[in-house]
Amino acid sequence: MEKVTNKILVLNGPNLNMLGLREQEYYGSSSLDDIERSIKEIAEKKGFFVKFKQSNSEGELVSWIQESINNYSGLVINAGAYTHTSIAIFDALKIINVPIIEVHLSNIYAREQFRKTSLISELATGIICGFGQLSYELAIEALITNVQRKEKENL
Ligand code: DQA
Repeated sequence: MEKVTNKILVLNGPNLNMLGLREQEYYGSSSLDDIERSIKEIAEKKGFFVKFKQSNSEGELVSWIQESINNYSGLVINAGAYTHTSIAIFDALKIINVPIIEVHLSNIYAREQFRKTSLISELATGIICGFGQLSYELAIEALITNVQRKEKENL
């Protein structure tokens, strides 16, 4: 069994299952499967296991965040449009006690006004946006480094 300290949960919100088909000028041509493969490879090389999930449903995302308690050492989340609207996801993220990295493929600060507000950011250890697939890859690298450093400090 993997140690909890080596497990990372990656959550993806609505419409991210449509990557590759959707607004490529913002989101690039990679599919969500491509992203999953890439970040699993990066994590595995560092001895980390990634659980990767996507849902179009706000309630399902909330349940997955709740269920993550005590099972993961960190969370990467691209909540999609719920980033800008969901108090339920904000409240769920407040309960968990692990580092959170907020990720977006596009630069949400260079788009419509309504995307410039993220309800999640204040709970995040860090935010990475604007790099397409690379945003996820950087997020995994950052989270793993963060978890490893914290582990060392607590030795
Ligand atoms: C997104 C940005 C959101 O504003 C949008 O609703 C998405 C994707 C991104 O990854 O750039 O669905 O989170």
